[in-house]
Amino acid sequence: MFARFEKIREWFDRYAGAFDLSVPMIQMKYKHSHDVMSVGKTLAHALEWPPGDVEVGVSACLLHDTGRFSQYRDFGTYYDGASVDHGERGFEVLSADFPDDAADAEAREVLLQAVRWHNKKNLPELAPEAMPFCRLVRDADKLDVFYLVQRRMDEGTVGELLPGHIINAPLSETLLREVEEHWSGTYKNASSLLDFTLIQLTWALDINFAPSLQMLEDSGMLTRMRSLFPKEPRVQALLDRLFTCIADHKRALMTIFESGRRLPA
Ligand SMILES: [Fe+2]
Repeated sequence: MFARFEKIREWFDRYAGAFDLSVPMIQMKYKHSHDVMSVGKTLAHALEWPPGDVEVGVSACLLHDTGRFSQYRDFGTYYDGASVDHGERGFEVLSADFPDDAADAEAREVLLQAVRWHNKKNLPELAPEAMPFCRLVRDADKLDVFYLVQRRMDEGTVGELLPGHIINAPLSETLLREVEEHWSGTYKNASSLLDFTLIQLTWALDINFAPSLQMLEDSGMLTRMRSLFPKEPRVQALLDRLFTCIADHKRALMTIFESGRRLPA
């Protein structure tokens, strides 16, 4: 399969450029798309993918949030629960508008699937050739959100990422219980910065590739986020267990990576 990244970037910049990029919330998604593309490129190289696969993967990363632009125009929010599933919206936009000469049929299908499924809680079993690219996008997207939160923490503006939330409220009991029982949390149970931080920490368990988890650890964000939580025994016990699970997950991913297989089984 092949994709022409330069053509895809031209198409994306023209598509996104038709929205009002002077609106900070829209500009933020435009920047995020390019940042995820950069992270995806670093990851694909770390995974030692052949150049053709890198081009498809990087293209998928750039396109992943195509649905965000019309979502914000139509609903004025990025909250899927109150508007539209932005992965599905991106899939619809690309199904209608993706340029014919930018990829062959197989790569086009992979790109559409990667966009469609990038934001779902779990990745279903798709065609085997699509899976690595879907996983790359999901890892790069998560990593860039960690980096964004890190930048905002440095600037003291992290609260602006969560408009309408009670930033300094304590952890939600419902969310705490959900994470204790399922090792993941849903946004409908989150209302404070700590709630979102706890959900984000669980993302580490959903990382697909060893180099991604290594980059996340190297950023220092997991430790930094952990330090925000209160010292209450129940919360610390949950964090202890969570970090043990992350270490186990990393060992499993490293075994796969070092065995020369580039994909989780
Ligand atoms: Fe997204």
